[in-house]
Amino acid sequence: MTNLLSPSAMGTDRVRVDGAAKVTGRARYACEHPVPHPVYLHPLQATIARGTVRELHTDDATALPGVLTVLTPFNAPPLETGTDAELEILQSPEVAFRGQLIGAVLAETPEIARQAAGLVRARYDREPHDVTLSADRDDLYAPEVVNPSLPTDTHDGDPDAAFAAAQRAVEATYTTPMLHNNPMEPHATIAIWDSDGLTLYDSTQGVHAMREVVTSVFGLEPDQVRVLAPYVGGGFGSKGTPHANLVLAVLAAKRTAGRPVKFAVTRQQMFSFVGYRTPTIQRVRLGADADGRLVSISNDVVEQTARIKEFAEQTGVPARSMYAAPNRRTTHRLAALDVPVPSWMRAPGECPGMFAPEVAMDELAEACGLDPIELRVRNEPETDPDSGLPFSSRNLVACLREGARRFGWDRRPRLPRSTLDGGWWVGTGVASSSYPVHSAPGSSATVRATGGGRYEVLIGAVDIGTGAWTVLTQIAADALAVPAERVDVRIGDTDLPEATVAGGSSGTTNWGSAIVEAAREFRQKFGADPHPGDELTAGMPELPGHERFAMRAFGAQFAEVRVNADTGEVRVPRLLGVFAAGRILNPRTARSQFIGGMTMGLSMALHEESVVDERFGFVVNHDLAEYHIASCADVASVQAHWLDEHDPHVNPMGSKGIGEIGIVGTAAAVANAAYHATGVRVRDLPIKADEFL
Ligand code: MOS
Repeated sequence: MTNLLSPSAMGTDRVRVDGAAKVTGRARYACEHPVPHPVYLHPLQATIARGTVRELHTDDATALPGVLTVLTPFNAPPLETGTDAELEILQSPEVAFRGQLIGAVLAETPEIARQAAGLVRARYDREPHDVTLSADRDDLYAPEVVNPSLPTDTHDGDPDAAFAAAQRAVEATYTTPMLHNNPMEPHATIAIWDSDGLTLYDSTQGVHAMREVVTSVFGLEPDQVRVLAPYVGGGFGSKGTPHANLVLAVLAAKRTAGRPVKFAVTRQQMFSFVGYRTPTIQRVRLGADADGRLVSISNDVVEQTARIKEFAEQTGVPARSMYAAPNRRTTHRLAALDVPVPSWMRAPGECPGMFAPEVAMDELAEACGLDPIELRVRNEPETDPDSGLPFSSRNLVACLREGARRFGWDRRPRLPRSTLDGGWWVGTGVASSSYPVHSAPGSSATVRATGGGRYEVLIGAVDIGTGAWTVLTQIAADALAVPAERVDVRIGDTDLPEATVAGGSSGTTNWGSAIVEAAREFRQKFGADPHPGDELTAGMPELPGHERFAMRAFGAQFAEVRVNADTGEVRVPRLLGVFAAGRILNPRTARSQFIGGMTMGLSMALHEESVVDERFGFVVNHDLAEYHIASCADVASVQAHWLDEHDPHVNPMGSKGIGEIGIVGTAAAVANAAYHATGVRVRDLPIKADEFL
């Protein structure tokens, strides 16, 4: 058990420390940093999905006044190769997917760069491409591990025999589409080479992670590269790992004799090379006895990766830990296609991997004649079915019960297609949420006394809009036993102590634990009345509980859905979630995380879908006019609540991650409510009007 920090600032509602700077426009995002004489970069992208660039005619582009140069695969500076094919751009004329970066125009203004890029003519040798995912391809293969390094397949008992013998059974295929991360701030970089080395202002989820990759791709030492990201306008995972845009900006900066290069990725370009959520095909089988006790659970997942680099999403993983059953199986199979490399998108694996099983549970509840909440309660495991370890805390049932009470679940008619209100079929649905408590070594923090009872706390963390900056201030205040007003936290710079990436909902655990340790050692060494300048740096301690317990946050999501009886239009007037995620460190920023996740889940349920034109191999709806995300008019009442959960094992703050769990289960709750409204079972996202006609 960890020595829990006693809360004073933690748990209180505090406005964001960066809020005023953001709303007054003083917060500088990556491309807004004032730099002298910047050069603007506009990329060249492949217009075939597979083949070779034979020629790039750049004369018309370079003739345009204001154009400095055009980088191509035939003249680009060399990179260290052999490590990451996604990043090794312009090193060969081969094209691995449509939209791949094959060059860049550098010019005095962004407008000139863009116009000139349109004047470059490419000639290709085309090869046939293949971008079509299906479950019956004969070249599906099993990856060695799935993200981040989990077993590809799991097998307990005899799931097929148990399924065949089960008294109640559900067997169905569910699909989720390709989805694209679209943070408010697209990816952006300023790259500056000077005598000190390379400075990068980058819109990233991890300054140290980006530095590590840049040093390896460019053959540099860490002290030659500084990455700064004081403010970041969202990422949802796509800024958690580096993508080729960062490499292109740095390559270009090698050619500008010290002038800074600005590369602001456009919204349309966001659909080509910064990652996306793979489409998934999930074959789920649930077998139960007549009382609804599961005897067999399996989820066999098919998804895609890129031919040039493997990313295997862990979609089958949540089914390993959700419910008890003696016979269980999860598998992952991949098709390696001529497509961009998939990557993290908010709750990778967990989010699509809970859609299918949680709709299947709704189908099983009906097959058993049980309330869907009761079915879930009956299948609560004693210990984690996957690892066999006890849960450090597991309050799924309490979330379901509290959610049912708040939502008014007991007023729900038992049968589907029971309520027609003014031409709209009305129904309600529920689904479970879950997200693991991740932690990773690699963060440290410095505590420094600045006089007058004030402290500076330094850590290279990044706040991508989550509220991390504010919450770290609260943690530091409690760890130093001073009011939060006396603590200045500095983040977002590789010159600060090393920090892990803002991903996997792990930032608060990793960074907070490092701050608590640094503060503890500081107080031990310098006492409560230190001299200005006293300072101490400490690393995140081991969190021993993570070996002994299975750790997950849980939640329950409820949705009310109205489906127009004539048009099939789907509306979601009400979403309500109840979460058990350890100690909530700041109710204001936490609520924002939960309702943000739920809103993104609603968007996944009804709107989001990247549509690939298989003839050309690219996403045709590559902008926010055609890639629909939920707008204000789509979002009515979204309520997030939480239980007062005490978990002494997770970390010194007692907190679990909250950035991703909000999106997990929402789409299943909406689909289940749509079924209850209409009697039509939709197993393919997004849910479209024509399903109901
Ligand atoms: Mo989150 S998709 O782990 O950045």
